[in-house]
Amino acid sequence: MKKTLRSVLALTFAIAMLLTVVAACADGDGGSGSGAARIGISLPTMSLQRWVQDGDNMREQFEAAGFEVDLQYGGENDVPTQIAQLENMIAQGVDALVICAIDGFALTEVLAQAKAAGIPVIAYDRLIMNTDAVTYYATFDNFQVGVLQGTFLENALNLSAGGGPYNIEFFTGDPGDNNIHFFFGGAMSVLQKYLDNGTLHCPSGETDIMQVATVAWDPANAQARMENLIATYGYAPSGGTPLHAVMCSNDSTAQGVTTALQGGGFTADNFPLITGQDCDIVSVRNMIAGYQAMSVFKDTRTLAANVVAMVKAIVAGTEVPINDRETYDNGTGVIPTNLSVPVFADINNWEALLIDSGYYTRDQIG
Ligand code: BGC
Repeated sequence: MKKTLRSVLALTFAIAMLLTVVAACADGDGGSGSGAARIGISLPTMSLQRWVQDGDNMREQFEAAGFEVDLQYGGENDVPTQIAQLENMIAQGVDALVICAIDGFALTEVLAQAKAAGIPVIAYDRLIMNTDAVTYYATFDNFQVGVLQGTFLENALNLSAGGGPYNIEFFTGDPGDNNIHFFFGGAMSVLQKYLDNGTLHCPSGETDIMQVATVAWDPANAQARMENLIATYGYAPSGGTPLHAVMCSNDSTAQGVTTALQGGGFTADNFPLITGQDCDIVSVRNMIAGYQAMSVFKDTRTLAANVVAMVKAIVAGTEVPINDRETYDNGTGVIPTNLSVPVFADINNWEALLIDSGYYTRDQIG
């Protein structure tokens, strides 16, 4: 009898505890007691301008919407650091995770913990591969980024008219970043036919995505490879091998390539056409000075606003804004995605895009 009473009391206590936890979670604070839902945001590095902007925008917009924010950067693109930070956020019981993976193939185990804890995960900008813990994906149309770069070169060199051959080299980003397949694939969807018909010629023959990858998207790595290409193929503004274009998937690789070409004697008057992406301040200055032909503007304010709207809907249990349910398969199935539109930027429209919209002040550009 005594035993039965003890069991009933224990059960009553357990139910009471459970109800307390459920009530704490229902008010959106994940048990933290502050009343506000807590968001863990994990970004790759502060050494690239765009991630600092993404972090600032998300913190500002999430806080304005009443969320508590735990924003962490993975050191200098350090995968173990990012994993440790995520483990910590999961242990703290955040209500949702927003993650831009350093290596999109390295988070399977840690995200299994998030899934077990019932924490929704939004892959931010880069898809996280091989894990069924990713709930949603928010990004720009990455294939379109590459199409904008390829189309720019097609028009600037008037490739459809034939002629040439125009010499070109290719640079993309980190092999662990799934985005490179979309960027590079998008650019090649425009340019491959001109390589095939000889209008474009790649003297190094390096046109495979892994041959042209840049570890960590690091400008120093892109610079070293471009210096090597200059030395091997004799690229020079006059009297050597002409170089008409370098297709770079983003601004950090473009900046490394630009430094190498400047070192190789190229000047603004004879600079090859360099593509980019992000409208980094350094690259905007290079566009103005004639060292970079174009970039792609991805307004990180828009991406932040979309992610805040998605998380709000998740927490409120309402419909999450999604506009793509076909394109992004992470190896475990298609991840419902919120896609934003990337915009072409060059010397003619950068002021309207970047200054008039308040993205940068004129002083920042200098
Ligand atoms: C982003 C680019 C960025 C690159 C390097 C990519 O995943 O989409 O905007 O330039 O990473 O950080």
